Formats: sequence, C-alpha cells, structure tokens
Amino acid sequence: MSETRTADFAVRDARARIRVELGARGYDIVVGAGTLADIGLSKAIWPKLRRVLVVSDETVDRLHGARLAEALAGAGFARESVVLPPGEATKSFAMLETLCETLLARRIDRGDVVVAFGGGVIGDLAGFAAAILLRGIDYVQIPTTLLAQVDSSVGGKTAIDTKLGKNLVGAFHQPRLVLADTALLDTLPRRDLLAGYAEVAKYGLIMDEAFFGWLERAWPRVVERAGPERTGAIDFSCRAKAAIVAEDERETGRRALLNFGHTFGHALEAECGFGDELRHGEAVALGMVMAFDLSAAMGLCDPAAGERVRRHFAAAGLPTSLRANTLAARPWPAERLVEHMLSDKKTRGGALTFILARGVGRAFVAHDVPRDRVIATLRAHGAA
Ligand code: NAD
Ligand code: GLY
Repeated sequence: MSETRTADFAVRDARARIRVELGARGYDIVVGAGTLADIGLSKAIWPKLRRVLVVSDETVDRLHGARLAEALAGAGFARESVVLPPGEATKSFAMLETLCETLLARRIDRGDVVVAFGGGVIGDLAGFAAAILLRGIDYVQIPTTLLAQVDSSVGGKTAIDTKLGKNLVGAFHQPRLVLADTALLDTLPRRDLLAGYAEVAKYGLIMDEAFFGWLERAWPRVVERAGPERTGAIDFSCRAKAAIVAEDERETGRRALLNFGHTFGHALEAECGFGDELRHGEAVALGMVMAFDLSAAMGLCDPAAGERVRRHFAAAGLPTSLRANTLAARPWPAERLVEHMLSDKKTRGGALTFILARGVGRAFVAHDVPRDRVIATLRAHGAA
C-alpha cells in the first residue's frame, strides 16, 4: 500500500469512507469525529427500517448513550436498548442467553437491526447474537474503543468465550455498516487507548513500513485527541484490514497475518487468566517485539528491526519485556507458555505456527517453528 500513499497518513476531511468488498455482503466503514450521527445512512440500506435494538455496556451507555439516542431520534428510528455489564466476562454463554431471550421477548424480527455500541466485547457478543437469532439478522457496528475501531468491528468475526478458552464459539457474520466515531475515544482511559494503538501499529509492521514510520512521529496525536492523525490512523488500519478480509474472509491464508504478535500474546494472556493484569493490546505489543526477535534469531530479519519496534513501543508506554514493572512479579515459565500456544485454536497438529517478519512491513506465515527457538526468545524476554 505504501507506494500509493505519501508519508503523511493524516486525514483532514471530516469523514473517511472505506468499502469492505465482499460482494452482496460488502459494507462501508465511515471514520471521523461525529460519525455516530451518520446512523441515518441505515435508511439507504434498509428503507423500511423503523426500530433498532441497541446493545451496549453500562460504561458506554452512561458516557455516550444519550448521544446515540439523539442521533437515532434525529434519523426517525425507534430505539430499544439492552445494557449489559462491562468486561470480558460478558462474552459468555450465560450473557448470550440473556441477550437472545431479551431480544426475542421484544419480538425482534428479521426486519429489525441490532446496533452493537461498545468495545470488542459488545461487538463480538451482539454480532454473534445477530448471527444466530432467527438464523441471522442484520447488525451495525458502532465501535467505541480504539481496538474495536481498528480491528474487532471489521471483518465479521463474532464470538463468545468458554471455560476452555477465548472466542471458541462464534460465527463469521459481517455487519452491514460500521460507524467509527473517533470522538467517542476521548473518554477512553489512556491504557485502553494504548492497547488499541498496538493493533494500529500492527498494520504498519505487517504490511507498510511508511505507515509505521509515520506513526513513529504522529503517535501522540493519534492517542491524545480526535483529529486528522487519529482519523488517518484508523482509516489506514481499516483499509488494511478491509483489503485482507476481502481477499481471505475465512482465514484460510493471508488473514492470518492479522495475528502478528498474537501467538506469543495469547500465551501471555492465558498465563494471566485473561484478566486485567495484561490487556490484549499490551500482550500483542510484547508479542510483536518477540516475533521480531524470533525472526532475527532464525536469521530471517535484521535485529535492528526488533530494536526499532521496541524503541517505539517503549516511547509510547507499551510493555516491551516481561521484566517491565508489574509484569516482573510473575515467573512466566517458558515451557508453560509454549503449552498455551499449542492449545490455541489457531494451532494445528501440534506444530508451532507464527507470523514472522523479514523486516518492518514484511510479515509472513511461518509453519513448524522450532520449539527451542521459541523458548529461547521467551527467556531472552524474561521468561523462566
Ligand atoms: P471492551 O469491549 O471490554 O472495552 C474495554 C473497556 O472500555 C470496557 O470496560 C468498556 O466498558 C470501556 N469502554 C468502551 N468504550 C469506551 C469509551 N468510549 N469511553 C470509556 N470507556 C469505554 O474491550 P476491547 O478492548 O474493546 O475489546 C476486547 C475484545 O475484543 C476481546 O474480547 C477480544 O477477543 C475481542 N476482539 C475481537 C476481534 C474480532 O475480530 N472480532 C479482534 C480483536 C479483539
Ligand atoms: N483480529 C484478527 C482478525 O480479524 O482476523
């Protein structure tokens, strides 16, 4: 993508619009400050739409529910809301049942539309409910975290967690519209913004060095306020993801690149029981540094690339080592971390598959990565 863009990725227009090219299931992503008000675009998709069913969490509803209610009323839609507790525990069988029963009790029909208004938890849960209710109804994503705006709201992966692991029960079900309102992120705690920022950086690291180079300069403005840099970073991320999803919707090939840093990251999250100790994005940041170091140890990449990534994440305040601050309290046994990797749903036949890199912007899928190399990389980062 870099050859068609200048090194300035900021978007100064009020709106950026991206098409996810999936034929009849294709849809637009609209990015910018105030795009919440564009919910009226739904009328072009569903001319007869009268009622929307908004699924949200308590925090998002308290902070931004009134704004959405106003936008819906302005567009002439009747609204019914379901407000769930915040947090990963909401992505459960129990909460899926509550949500489905509540929507059915309100006599949801195939002419209604579900609006997922929240972070990745609400997007994944409400999207899954939409996939299975009445054998599938339409939904709109209005993501309210940076992570959800650049990753989880796009691409149609929906899921809940089970006792045996995260995201193990779900469906591919594409939304019909995504409204990424960059101003909603102004209420997001900095730690969550940074965790989402790791996923933004991921797109540069896997496929576009120029974008990563721009982020090295522009990241404070991406994180700190709604404006051209934030819109630009989200626009680029969504374009990158849309292109990959259009090519490989069901992750039989290239979509796996989006898992860069995730094999290491998932193992670290699993070791912490997926609790608050380590946000998903923080684990992915650490995982991406580890993936560069593993690539260098295997002779695939100049060690300077890993150093560059480490420097950038450290400057932004993302963790880059298991020896960092609060993380140092855990022993992080390397053998157990590899066992977590082997029980990841992305692992097949007991072989370790990683997304590795030949340099910044040049990621690829590597099968059968030797276990001892992985262990050595983990230990170099502070694992026992
Ligand atoms: P989240 O949905 O739990 O949101 C994080 C916290 O921020 C919550 O407490 C929420 O209430 C709060 N919040 C949300 N918007 C806010 C706002 N604007 N201001 C203040 N607070 C706000 O977490 P997340 O990081 O958005 O998403 C994580 C989930 O996404 C995980 O379950 C992960 O598995 C999933 N995910 C899915 C995909 C996918 O492709 N479907 C991709 C990546 C991650
Ligand atoms: N978050 C990875 C994917 O959507 O494929």
